[in-house]
Amino acid sequence: MKKLGLSLVLVSAVYCLSLGTIDLDNLYNYAFQYIPDYIQLDNTRDNAITDEGATLGRVLFYDKKLSSDNNTACASCHQQEAAFGDLNTLSIGSFGLTGRHSMRLVNARFSEEPKFFWDERALTLEEQTTQPIQDHTEMGYSGEFGNPDISELLTKLDTVSYYETLFELAFGDSEITEDRIQLALAQFVRSIQSFDSRYDAGRAMVNGDPIPFPNFTDDENAGKKLFLERVQFDGNGNRIGGGVACASCHIPPSFSIDDQSRSNGVFLAANGFDTDEGITRSPTLRDIFHPDGSLNGPLMHNGQFTSIRQVLEHYNDIEGVTGNASPPVLDARLKDGRFVQKLNMTEEEYAQVTAFLLTLTGEDVYTNEMWSDPFDADGGLTIMGGNPLSSSNLESKNDVEIYPNPVIETLHLRNIPEESQIMVFDQNGRLMANTQTDGRGKHSIDFTTFETGIYFVQSQNMNGELIMVKRIFKI
Ligand code: HEC
Ligand code: HEC
Repeated sequence: MKKLGLSLVLVSAVYCLSLGTIDLDNLYNYAFQYIPDYIQLDNTRDNAITDEGATLGRVLFYDKKLSSDNNTACASCHQQEAAFGDLNTLSIGSFGLTGRHSMRLVNARFSEEPKFFWDERALTLEEQTTQPIQDHTEMGYSGEFGNPDISELLTKLDTVSYYETLFELAFGDSEITEDRIQLALAQFVRSIQSFDSRYDAGRAMVNGDPIPFPNFTDDENAGKKLFLERVQFDGNGNRIGGGVACASCHIPPSFSIDDQSRSNGVFLAANGFDTDEGITRSPTLRDIFHPDGSLNGPLMHNGQFTSIRQVLEHYNDIEGVTGNASPPVLDARLKDGRFVQKLNMTEEEYAQVTAFLLTLTGEDVYTNEMWSDPFDADGGLTIMGGNPLSSSNLESKNDVEIYPNPVIETLHLRNIPEESQIMVFDQNGRLMANTQTDGRGKHSIDFTTFETGIYFVQSQNMNGELIMVKRIFKI
């Protein structure tokens, strides 16, 4: 009993210290997250996510030092609780307001359209990541108006002690370059994924989107059908049947925008009087809603719509909203020949499409610590681990192998040095399993009945000495 009490203290210490701390011996699993097999898209190219690179990316993403006045981080405008978007219509940067609404960053890795920003001006995510840093309004390292440029940022970060450790961890030496900042930030952004929605639960049960999902209500299935199916027109732009064809541009199962999409007719600039016609990208339609049912911020590049009802009314009667008689770049999919579409949606149809869009929201992405702010309330960050007393060194000294991680059913341990006690704790330090090995060096633990989440597997020898602690993900 005494031994057990001690280990609980130890494990909770590992867990609780995580605020304001990066534990080099217990990096989060960014590299091998669960991706459903129906998701085939991936814009990773040659910058594969590593736990080390994404950990550096996480620190950079939350670090206000990336702005010239030390006031703005990426996370100032891309907030975890809003699916990495912003509840404000325009975001507050170091030197003013942004010109467009901040984009949610969920599932940026899994997009049909490889280019980034509302107007697709960044060819890759890597290229995108240092543009806000160099934007005068956003983070200030513009080199314009007497402001410092990005080379001065690199010099500044050189004097920050945790970056020496973190760049070395990610890239093998502590040199800080713009290229490396881009790689690490892009890895972190790509790691932000959301696949635990009710839509995903349903999609996994059937063999394709058109089939009714067993876990959906009738309205949600009807909304899905409307979202997926083509419009039937009368030849003059009036819908006389069929669906409302959102899926022709917001393509399931990623719900990312088609790379061929042109404008959807929202031409008004965010300032309310200019036009902003080059908008052809949208973030995924996943997680436009927060799990509590509120929107994760206003919608479209100008934040013009504050409810899904307004969005649907826009598509229902495009001319009416924009006041534009013959929109020049309106996507042909929103027209019937030369006539702009009139969807004639009923009250019931509005409600059904809304019910379906609500199923696209996950939960984990809003709270998972791996994407949260690593700094403490005073902006401090402590790097721990990587020293001789730490768990991974214990682990490597003893060569205990634990696999697979993440685990679905059975966790295997190999090269256990001596007869020992193996314990599994959940995130709250609750003992989930406690067994003894037989001294032959191998051991298996059944994880089938455990809920999805983070667990700590710990082994100690018969004298109560800790042999290793390892963070394991159950999926
Ligand atoms: C001051 C607010 C602000 C800050 C700071 C900021 N962003 Fe953004 N972000 C925006 C806005 C606004 C847009 C859309 C801009 C546009 O399209 O013209 C955007 C777009 C993006 C996109 C494109 C998403 C897509 O799907 O196309 C990515 C990725 C992104 N930001 C990442 C970052 C990273 C990484 C940082 C930190 C280095 C950062 N942002 C800092 C406001 C901000
Ligand atoms: C022709 C392609 C196309 C079709 C069809 C289409 N959209 Fe869009 N959608 C876009 C584009 C482009 C944007 C970005 C426009 C902007 O921000 O100005 C967008 C933006 C959105 C947004 C805002 C996303 C955000 O993060 O702010 C929502 C919500 C949306 N569409 C829902 C729908 C629904 C629902 C339907 C079906 C009724 C639909 N769309 C049909 C192209 C399309």
